[in-house]
Amino acid sequence: MARSPPAAAVACLLVAAVFLPAAAGEKAKAEYVKYKDPKQPINERVDDLLNRMTLEEKIGQMSQIERANATTEVIEKYFVGSVLSGGGSVPSEKATASVWQKMVAAMQKAALKTRLGIPIIYGIDAVHGNNNVYNATIFPHNVALGATRDPNLVKRVGDATAREARATGIP
Ligand SMILES: *[C@@H]1O[C@H](CO)[C@@H](O)[C@H](O)[C@H]1NC(C)=O
Ligand SMILES: *[C@@H]1O[C@H](CO)[C@@H](O)[C@H](O)[C@H]1NC(C)=O
Repeated sequence: MARSPPAAAVACLLVAAVFLPAAAGEKAKAEYVKYKDPKQPINERVDDLLNRMTLEEKIGQMSQIERANATTEVIEKYFVGSVLSGGGSVPSEKATASVWQKMVAAMQKAALKTRLGIPIIYGIDAVHGNNNVYNATIFPHNVALGATRDPNLVKRVGDATAREARATGIP
């Protein structure tokens, strides 16, 4: 009994000495992963990724959960594919763009930490301005924009809305 812990420790060290350098070498080489290679055709990347996914990962990727429930732990544990800010679902009252940015970035970081590193898609209803965000520009609703009969104006409305969404960290 008294002799067995040192013996076990020696055995562990020997095992570590033999296997650790090899493991470190493997890691440094970084295994080639086809789905992460932007030079490969999209369909082949998709096939490669799908073949690697477990059922749990597929279920997670097909799920969009509400922002209020999307903690970083939940995103990591369930491989959540998408998060939605439903109407009025904000990180805090009168949240600034930078508060939004921090929230989205933390979620994205959690998603990228998962086994396959698939980023989340962040959903927000910004149909007439990014109006979930305090102080963002609110434009007339789509039917009124249509009534202007001015496609160029409506395009500029879309452009401004996209920029105000991007400013909150949502691509
Ligand atoms: C999701 O969030 C809502 C609002 O905070 C809460 O009422 C609900 O219980 C949450 N659901 C889960 C499964 O955590
Ligand atoms: C919101 O807009 C008002 C008026 O321009 C400004 O005084 C206030 O500082 C803004 N608040 C935030 C959080 O941006």
